[in-house]
Amino acid sequence: MRVAVVGGGGREHALAWALARTADVVVVPGNAGIARAGIACVPTLDATGPVDLVVIGPEQPLVDGLADQVRSGGTPVFGPGADGARLERSKAHLKQVLQRAGVPTAASRAFHAGEEGAAETFLRSQPGPWVVKTDGLAAGKGVLVANDVEGAVADMRAKLAGTSFGTAGRTVVVEEGLTGPEVSVLAVCDGRAADDAVVVLPVARDHKRVGDGDTGPNTGGMGAFSPVGGASADLPDQVLETMVLPTLHALAADGVDYRGVLYAGIMLTPDGPKLLEYNVRFGDPEAQVVLPRLEGDLAALLASAAAGHVDPSAIGVQPQACVGVVLAAPGYPEAPVTGGKISGLDQAGPLAFCAGVAEHEGRLVTAGGRVLCVTALGADGHQARAAAYAAADRVEFEGGVLRRDDIAATA
Ligand code: AMP
Ligand code: GLY
Repeated sequence: MRVAVVGGGGREHALAWALARTADVVVVPGNAGIARAGIACVPTLDATGPVDLVVIGPEQPLVDGLADQVRSGGTPVFGPGADGARLERSKAHLKQVLQRAGVPTAASRAFHAGEEGAAETFLRSQPGPWVVKTDGLAAGKGVLVANDVEGAVADMRAKLAGTSFGTAGRTVVVEEGLTGPEVSVLAVCDGRAADDAVVVLPVARDHKRVGDGDTGPNTGGMGAFSPVGGASADLPDQVLETMVLPTLHALAADGVDYRGVLYAGIMLTPDGPKLLEYNVRFGDPEAQVVLPRLEGDLAALLASAAAGHVDPSAIGVQPQACVGVVLAAPGYPEAPVTGGKISGLDQAGPLAFCAGVAEHEGRLVTAGGRVLCVTALGADGHQARAAAYAAADRVEFEGGVLRRDDIAATA
């Protein structure tokens, strides 16, 4: 089987690496680090030659309808169409679908530009913590969780004015503040709304805040691990029954054929698991720690889902734990300083997944906020963590590495 993976980040590197065990893989456009790892990268889908399957990594092309376009050309695609991708494109739409489907989630209200007064009154009537989300895509950075109402009001005003997130923020969703540990559950869906239409992958957790101890602003994710100690053994079934299947039924009622990953971001609250968000793709960096734990034939799994009847026997889960540490450029997330030479990558093991990496004068240099996700397997969470940090310690960026030192500390 020949598979094209669309995207150029660490998630796509991990997907390409895992798919390459059983398939011939080309990444579009990929990045210099993926190419350096021996995986073919081409600039456009037109340049891949014939492929049997297209796997779309990031949300933006899904939102833009790339899956619809490729499917209408006759090639099977793993990734939802623009109609399914609306779950991630618009938090206001997401909340409507969740309400209709009866999925447990934070109470919320949407406000549009011009409704600042009503939004402020609503915020001030809430007990806090106060949560203000951009309706549109914001690379994981559009959510403010504030412990003071003044900060929440100021953030809401900046978002609605378009100053902080452009048009993505001109509608906001104000949510009830929930508390509890978070987990990510990735469900592979084949377009049907049936019990056997979904394969749930191992539970993972990412670390969204930039600083140790979960401090500082939200990022795209500073590291991840799987499995997650403390998540109950029946969590995947619970997520399937109370979240994913009701959502697929609601989507089907709207005529949406959802073939791809439905990524459930979940908070384990004192009142039980609640859905914070859906993403319509593999998580980044969750993919980097979930995919190495799969054995079997990932290409067959994704191809069967893309063909409308997912085959759970294509993969198994091996017992080892996996930890991934993101190495970011200094200044991330606000203003990453890029262009620094990367050294030591060859000593970081086979699971050093490359994201913001480019080639300059024959050398790899940093070219984005999140540069690498250095990942390792181990017999348990402690061993995987030690191995991941040992590998991460071997990598340096000219100008410095920004990373967290407490990834998977609770694994
Ligand atoms: P989201 O993009 O919706 O997953 O939000 C990003 C992060 O903001 C989540 O991972 C949570 O840490 C936090 N968050 C989102 N919604 C809430 C909420 N209702 N209550 C508390 N924290 C939240
Ligand atoms: N790790 C969070 C995300 O992929 O959106």
